[in-house]
Amino acid sequence: MEVFELANLIGELNRLVFKFLADYKSHSLPGDILKFKIKSDLKTSLFPEMLLRDFLPKNNINQDNCDVPGYSFKIGNVDVKNPLISAPLAGISDNTYRIFARFFGSALTYTEMITSYGIYYRHKKSLALTDVTDYERPCALQIFGSNPEIITEAALQIEGRADIIDINMGCPVPKILKAGSGGYLVQDEAKIEKIITGLSSVLKKPLTVKTRIGWDSNNINILNIAKIAEGSGASAISIHGRTVRQGFSGDVDYKLIKKVKEKVKIPVIVSGDIDSPLKAKEILDYTGCDGIMIGRAVKGRLWLMMDMLIFIIGNSGKVIDAEFNPGIDWKKEFSKIYLKFLINFKGENKAVMEFRKHLCWIFKGARGISRAKSEFFKIESFKDAVNSIDNI
Ligand SMILES: Cc1cc2nc3c(=O)[nH]c(=O)nc-3n(C[C@H](O)[C@H](O)[C@H](O)COP(=O)(O)O)c2cc1C
Repeated sequence: MEVFELANLIGELNRLVFKFLADYKSHSLPGDILKFKIKSDLKTSLFPEMLLRDFLPKNNINQDNCDVPGYSFKIGNVDVKNPLISAPLAGISDNTYRIFARFFGSALTYTEMITSYGIYYRHKKSLALTDVTDYERPCALQIFGSNPEIITEAALQIEGRADIIDINMGCPVPKILKAGSGGYLVQDEAKIEKIITGLSSVLKKPLTVKTRIGWDSNNINILNIAKIAEGSGASAISIHGRTVRQGFSGDVDYKLIKKVKEKVKIPVIVSGDIDSPLKAKEILDYTGCDGIMIGRAVKGRLWLMMDMLIFIIGNSGKVIDAEFNPGIDWKKEFSKIYLKFLINFKGENKAVMEFRKHLCWIFKGARGISRAKSEFFKIESFKDAVNSIDNI
């Protein structure tokens, strides 16, 4: 059985990010738009802000606290140092994902949605999802449910582990809707108010809500929901700009989210189809939102978050090559370190099984990938995985 120490892995991850930034600069940056002088000690744990501080022009990032002027904001008392936020993704946004997201620039991370019943009844599997290391903070623990009292009890139980408690009011999966949770709640504004009021009156940590623009095209009520959330004590709201009925396809209504942003004072985070540095900047500018949430676009390529961040905060209006696609050797390194983290958190057997899908995502589009894919689904150990990666 392979065993990896978290502290050592963090060192490896730092070097990986450092290499990415160095390659980024030598590959795609004309002149000296980005200054590159690493002062930080790569052996110790570094958060992306420190790497970026050494990477970006001095006036683009506060040298003392690494805030990005004009882009940082607060959710309650939690500092969100830049506008880039990695989305909650069930089955994907685990500790490893969140640490990588943080190190590649995400200012805030989310757990996947966790059942409030599971926490309330202290199911091992649900509680395991609430484990958070310091390397992925600030981290929002997201819970879902239909019963306001159970949701409140569950939130109180896990509050100590969270930086933020987030309530899922947007999931469109039939099983969740049937139970009256997730997206089902957008149809019941009175219940939304009850849940948020109940929670905000007892929680010490900031409370946020992640929702959609409404149930279907005839029932779009996000303006009401946002007002209710704000009035009942939520510290921010994230909005996937689709109806629950739309699921994950069809147009995203950024215009409506812009309207919401104009109507409430709490921070608004926009989600849906943000898939490139250019789009990230456009949607941020257009909606005026405080944050942009990135989900599917960074599955298997979390480095894209760094591309987005540099484009948004380092661009200073000049046009630069927005998207830097790292080379195959760097991706191989990325994938091996990713697997080591998975093993650290889940043990070799479980990690390797889960890693198969990550391999497909990471090497999507690489030459010879269709042949390699069948290999990926045969790997059973760290050694197999390394062989398979080396053969790409
Ligand atoms: C596989 C998958 C799992 C998801 N899991 C969650 C979840 O646990 N909680 C949540 O609030 N949203 C979840 N979402 C929604 C995303 O957070 C995001 O709002 C949505 O995918 C739109 O953004 P995107 O186009 O950037 O992916 C999930 C989406 C996908 C595709």
